[in-house]
Amino acid sequence: MGEAASFRSLLIELFGRLTNGVVCRGAGRRMRWGMLAGVLAGSLLVTNAGRLQAQTDCLGCHDNAEMQDASGHSVAVDGKTFNKSIHGTMKCNDCHQNIKEYPHPAQVAKVDCKGCHADEAQGLAGSVHADSKEHPCTSCHGSAHSIFPKADSRSAVYPLNIPNTCGKCHSNQGMAQKHGLASVYPKYMDSIHGFALSKEGLLVAANCQSCHGSHHILSRKDPASPTNRVNIPKTCGSCHAKINDDYMGGSHGKQMAAGNVKAPVCTDCHTAHEILHPTESAFRMQSTPICGSCHKDKLSTYRDTFHSQLGSLGGYVETARCWDCHGAHEILPASDPKSPVNKANLIKTCGACHAGANASFVQYQPHANAHDRKLNPALYYVRTFMNVLLASVLTFFMIHTLLWLIRARYNQIKEKKTVGGDHE
Ligand code: HEC
Ligand code: HEC
Ligand code: HEC
Ligand code: HEC
Ligand code: HEC
Ligand code: HEC
Ligand code: HEC
Ligand code: HEC
Ligand code: HEC
Ligand code: HEC
Ligand code: HEC
Repeated sequence: MGEAASFRSLLIELFGRLTNGVVCRGAGRRMRWGMLAGVLAGSLLVTNAGRLQAQTDCLGCHDNAEMQDASGHSVAVDGKTFNKSIHGTMKCNDCHQNIKEYPHPAQVAKVDCKGCHADEAQGLAGSVHADSKEHPCTSCHGSAHSIFPKADSRSAVYPLNIPNTCGKCHSNQGMAQKHGLASVYPKYMDSIHGFALSKEGLLVAANCQSCHGSHHILSRKDPASPTNRVNIPKTCGSCHAKINDDYMGGSHGKQMAAGNVKAPVCTDCHTAHEILHPTESAFRMQSTPICGSCHKDKLSTYRDTFHSQLGSLGGYVETARCWDCHGAHEILPASDPKSPVNKANLIKTCGACHAGANASFVQYQPHANAHDRKLNPALYYVRTFMNVLLASVLTFFMIHTLLWLIRARYNQIKEKKTVGGDHE
């Protein structure tokens, strides 16, 4: 049997080379194809094996880099790469199920990966990429003949390669705009995660899959999506565990857990795809307005203070920003003894920047609001007194000036009269 099989392979290979030559030459293709195919089929029948069974049977023809079908589409399969790939030990017709002989059937069945990978196919079917024409498995996994395990650096879904794989479509050049989606790929690549991944090769940095999943990707509007507002702390927290704990222990996290969707989640302060190093001045400069976008009253009172004015003068980054006093994640009400702005902790909090801060120094009110009598009575009365003083001084001098004018005019007329009288 071994002898017959190897003879068969030899024949197939031989005819494979012949037919490839014909295809490449082009002219009179169809006629010679028919002829050669007939000869081949005949030879196979002679060897008592009309069917193409082994991988090598198919590769005998297809492992030729120049091989094309009649319309010029490449039908070459790189045998060496295929053999090393994860499916390399499979027979070609494990996937190409209705190709069992040559000539091939007129209607070659589309390969269906679902037969062996039901879970992935099911996940994909319910996702944003459900349209199987636009998103076949190969749109992410690359050529079906060179699929590698996801932990292999040659795989299209190896962590370091995922951004490029998704970015084929989710970039300016891709189809993002056509579908009215933001072009996130370039933003991501410039973010701290993208930088860590692409420049430092940090496998544990977040890639698209870490936050979105792979097959069952859902729109952020879907409550089950890991990118839905409610689930974001958990998604980021899968890596940033300590920060997530702090956040959940603070007012914002507690409010979020209690269903107050107005409380901020990680991405409100950090964004999703443009995350910066928080110590970078760019972040320090933009984060006060971020807190202020919700705490408008506190922002406006902060703006009145020396700290803010210092910040806006020439863009100092050393001045106190909201989180220098409140913390960033475990933010608590001032009444909480653990809060850095609780009276008992102020010396320490202010002292981080003001060496020698003491009890009288921390009397200074970072949110002093002179318009509010109840909150800041002393300031309110001082301001009111100053205003009244200013008004009275102004009024006094106005009346004074008016009287002075009248008096001056009166004197003038009186003087004229006296002079006239002298002439008479
Ligand atoms: C004798 C050479 C030869 C052998 C052996 C051969 N093929 Fe082909 N195959 C071709 C040629 C030539 C074409 C392109 C035109 C055509 O379909 O006739 C082709 C086309 C194909 C196509 C593309 C069909 C399409 O319409 O897109 C697939 C898939 C394919 N072959 C798979 C296989 C498989 C699987 C085997 C082994 C079971 C195999 N071939 C064995 C020569 C061969
Ligand atoms: C894991 C499944 C799988 C295996 C195994 C497989 N193929 Fe394919 N092959 C595909 C898919 C998917 C396509 C793309 C067309 C489609 O979706 O039907 C394809 C396309 C082709 C084509 C058409 C040209 C092209 O690239 O579009 C040829 C020829 C082909 N395969 C030959 C082979 C040969 C020869 C083998 C064995 C050495 C083989 N295939 C093994 C999945 C497979
Ligand atoms: C939108 C892109 C995308 C599409 C489309 C896609 N995959 Fe994946 N696939 C991935 C990513 C990303 C991974 C890596 C997951 C990881 O690292 O955990 C993956 C991993 C896999 C794995 C490895 C096991 C696992 O689940 O981690 C298999 C098997 C797989 N995909 C099969 C398929 C099949 C079959 C299809 C078509 C039904 C498909 N994929 C379509 C992106 C995709
Ligand atoms: C005949 C069954 C079969 C078919 C059809 C099939 N595969 Fe596979 N696939 C396997 C087996 C077996 C493995 C290796 C075992 C494993 O790790 O799951 C595998 C592994 C994979 C992996 C790597 C899993 C990992 O660990 O990272 C991916 C990705 C994959 N297949 C994608 C596809 C795609 C895409 C198709 C369709 C073009 C496809 N498979 C068709 C059987 C199949
Ligand atoms: C073949 C092109 C293509 C690839 C590759 C691709 N996508 Fe998509 N993606 C799309 C298109 C097109 C849509 C819009 C689908 C729609 O609205 O019908 C989309 C939608 C999405 C959405 C939903 C946007 C929303 O909220 O509506 C997310 C999230 C997404 N893709 C993430 C990914 C990730 C992550 C990867 C890589 C693992 C990836 N995509 C790979 C084309 C692609
Ligand atoms: C650190 C987590 C994270 C990473 C990494 C990430 N995303 Fe996102 N992505 C999100 C979140 C959260 C949203 C929800 C919307 C928002 O907050 O901006 C989102 C939204 C999206 C959207 C929908 C945008 C829209 O217009 O509604 C697409 C598309 C998308 N991401 C694709 C990607 C791609 C492609 C990558 C990789 C290049 C990626 N994401 C990397 C967290 C992430
Ligand atoms: C897969 C794990 C993973 C996920 C998920 C993840 N990150 Fe990261 N993140 C990292 C790693 C690793 C670094 C460190 C990068 C470096 O140091 O170069 C990092 C860095 C950061 C930094 C900068 C830290 C610093 O000290 O400079 C911020 C801010 C950040 N991530 C926020 C987020 C947010 C917000 C989310 C969710 C939307 C998120 N991360 C999701 C792994 C992750
Ligand atoms: C209310 C705004 C806000 C929210 C919500 C928020 N952060 Fe931050 N985050 C900040 C600020 C401000 C800093 C800078 C702190 C500093 O420089 O001391 C920071 C710093 C970081 C850092 C750098 C390490 C560090 O502690 O300095 C990481 C990583 C990070 N945040 C991740 C997250 C994650 C994950 C979440 C969600 C669980 C989250 N952040 C929620 C504002 C926020
Ligand atoms: C998306 C809106 C939003 C952003 C951004 C935001 N907060 Fe808040 N914050 C809230 C909500 C909602 C609460 C819950 C208590 C309330 O309703 O005032 C809260 C509570 C607080 C509290 C505790 C007050 C109390 O009575 O419990 C402090 C302090 C605070 N935030 C400071 C900050 C700081 C500092 C930043 C920036 C690093 C920030 N917030 C960013 C919405 C926001
Ligand atoms: C120099 C330190 C400092 C800075 C900077 C600062 N705060 Fe405060 N904040 C305090 C102190 C101290 C209190 C408590 C006393 C008070 O209410 O004035 C407080 C109170 C608050 C409260 C009310 C907490 C409660 O329990 O009722 C909120 C909300 C708040 N700040 C938000 C902000 C925001 C938003 C910013 C930035 C725009 C900011 N703070 C900047 C020190 C600071
Ligand atoms: C992140 C650092 C930082 C923190 C925290 C901080 N400050 Fe300041 N503060 C500055 C800087 C920088 C200046 C301007 C330079 C200077 O005068 O020292 C300033 C100036 C001041 C001034 C006016 C100038 C002066 O020195 O008399 C007062 C008053 C003041 N801070 C009070 C406070 C109080 C009260 C707290 C705590 C609630 C506090 N600061 C927390 C950085 C900080």
